[in-house]
Amino acid sequence: TALSHIRNFSIVAHIDHGKSTLADRLIQMTNTVAERDMKEQMLDAMDIERERGITIKANTVRIDYTALNGESYVLNLIDTPGHVDFAYEVSRSMRAVEGSLLVVDSTQGVEAQTLANVYQAIDADHEIVPVLNKIDLPASDCDRVAEQIEDVIGIDASGAIRVSAKTGQGITETLEAIVHQLPAPQGDRNAALKAMLVDSWYDPYLGVVVLVRIMDGVLKKGDQIRMMQTGARYGVDRIGVFRPAMTTVDELGPGEIGFITASIKQVRDTKVGDTITHDKKQTDKPLPGFKPSVPVVFCGLFPVDSAEFEDLRDAIEKLALNDASFSYEMESSAALGFGFRCGFLGLLHLEVIRDRIEREYDIELITTAPSVVYHVFMKDGEMIELHNPADMPDLSKVDHVEEPRIKATILVPDDYLGDVLKLCQDRRGIQQELTYAGSRPLVVYDLPLNEVVFDFYDRLKSVTKGYASFDYQMIGYRQDNLVKMSVLVNDEPVDALSMMVHRDRAEMRGRAMCEKLKDLIPRHMFKIPIQAAIGGKVIARETLSALRKDVTAKCYGGDATRKRKLLEKQKAGKKKMRQFGKVEIPQEAFISALKMD
Ligand code: GTP
Repeated sequence: TALSHIRNFSIVAHIDHGKSTLADRLIQMTNTVAERDMKEQMLDAMDIERERGITIKANTVRIDYTALNGESYVLNLIDTPGHVDFAYEVSRSMRAVEGSLLVVDSTQGVEAQTLANVYQAIDADHEIVPVLNKIDLPASDCDRVAEQIEDVIGIDASGAIRVSAKTGQGITETLEAIVHQLPAPQGDRNAALKAMLVDSWYDPYLGVVVLVRIMDGVLKKGDQIRMMQTGARYGVDRIGVFRPAMTTVDELGPGEIGFITASIKQVRDTKVGDTITHDKKQTDKPLPGFKPSVPVVFCGLFPVDSAEFEDLRDAIEKLALNDASFSYEMESSAALGFGFRCGFLGLLHLEVIRDRIEREYDIELITTAPSVVYHVFMKDGEMIELHNPADMPDLSKVDHVEEPRIKATILVPDDYLGDVLKLCQDRRGIQQELTYAGSRPLVVYDLPLNEVVFDFYDRLKSVTKGYASFDYQMIGYRQDNLVKMSVLVNDEPVDALSMMVHRDRAEMRGRAMCEKLKDLIPRHMFKIPIQAAIGGKVIARETLSALRKDVTAKCYGGDATRKRKLLEKQKAGKKKMRQFGKVEIPQEAFISALKMD
């Protein structure tokens, strides 16, 4: 296809503003997929994504569109993930396209992720077409939202397209805007091959699939290619495009987006952002490249049944093949036995991986408290990256500890502003900005990541009844008074429950933890002390009293069925328990104990 007839774009939007629905409609109205094959949310491939309504991996589709001027165009849509955990994936896929549709729900207006994502598009020098969605709803207020886009984002929204992705209204206008308002890609067909490695993943049938955007030159089947950063060389086996099903083509030329396979063994062998060129005729101008995405949240994953350790290893290895941003290493815990310390981009990423292990591999897991990476500076000058609070060195050897901080942007209706400020303050936040985005307060806080990692987002949703929107970015490390708090159950330390806390909040956190555990651990035949300690010093304590009566006593002895049922229920409950010394701790305790309300 001639460059002048290609348009490459992405869609940026806040969660639920209708990005996937719009993409589906664009695909459907251009007959890219036969009507009978059309599923809701075509682009969300995995079940989990579908269930949770979130898009995780960048997905791509090539749409053939005959415009009203009679000319045929090729439109390549790269779908980007909408969740904060995957901000990095958004930024890299944006570099592969020239323009964006900025979708804003016209009943809601600009939200935190609208801002975060549109700034990424602006950074990538995109031409931006504003689209006001959901105009079929009575609450739609396009004039207000267009004005808000101009005020807050500073782009012209007077020509914003008014769309209902649901009814299909405005879709032709959107397609026309893509053709006439977005720039055509540039590139030189006769130059040496220069292609961007946009993404890669593992396909059970094809092996590693690499998504590429051709900048210059032409890529053909059988070509010998070289990845310029890693120096690896491969022969191209297959070349194709997504319609959205994988369809092979003979070649990809400048401006085009498609996939290749090349008997690459694992996803880890491909570096996102790398430049692909021909081995014989190399480009002398590789792309600037990307910094790799680094895991920021770590937790331990242990099988509930220790006999399943090998199965867990297998599952984790397989998942890691397909997800280079997920890291793992073996870990052994006195209390939990063998497991893995895993690193994730954020909490959602953690939940997705954990769910997949439990569901697809049928392994029940104990997940230990998520922790961020601390920088521990030793008195001898060494710096240790601490991924697991249990590994915190002896305090006498530690000079100081630094923790990662984030810049959080929160948009919230006026009514809930007070609650949000209090929440941020409670989480050791430092206010940076309090301005207005249109009529709504826009709050910017500098917060410690570890205070956000666990349940900040849930708390924010609950104190604002779901009306707040939130986005964050890492800003760096800063020193603070941080200590390790250990938890002892029946005088045995439970390393999986130890956590890093700020010294000033240690007592409060310790008390909350002990109270929670007291509720979560079932009573035993003996009294169980539950303590929180820093170093050797106990800072909080609760006692779980002994069980006095037999559990079946309340069945009045007579009803045998009921008695059996009760015992069975207990047995089922037991499956999810772990033995610590003489005490059994239920699986959910590890997560619940750390939630602060
Ligand atoms: P993520 O993939 O989670 O980022 O969300 P999204 O932005 O892709 O939103 P999605 O397309 O899943 O739409 C969110 C909800 O809004 C769904 O329930 C859609 O059915 C609904 N929706 C999308 N577009 C319209 C529209 O034009 N009108 C109405 N009434 N509902 C819409």
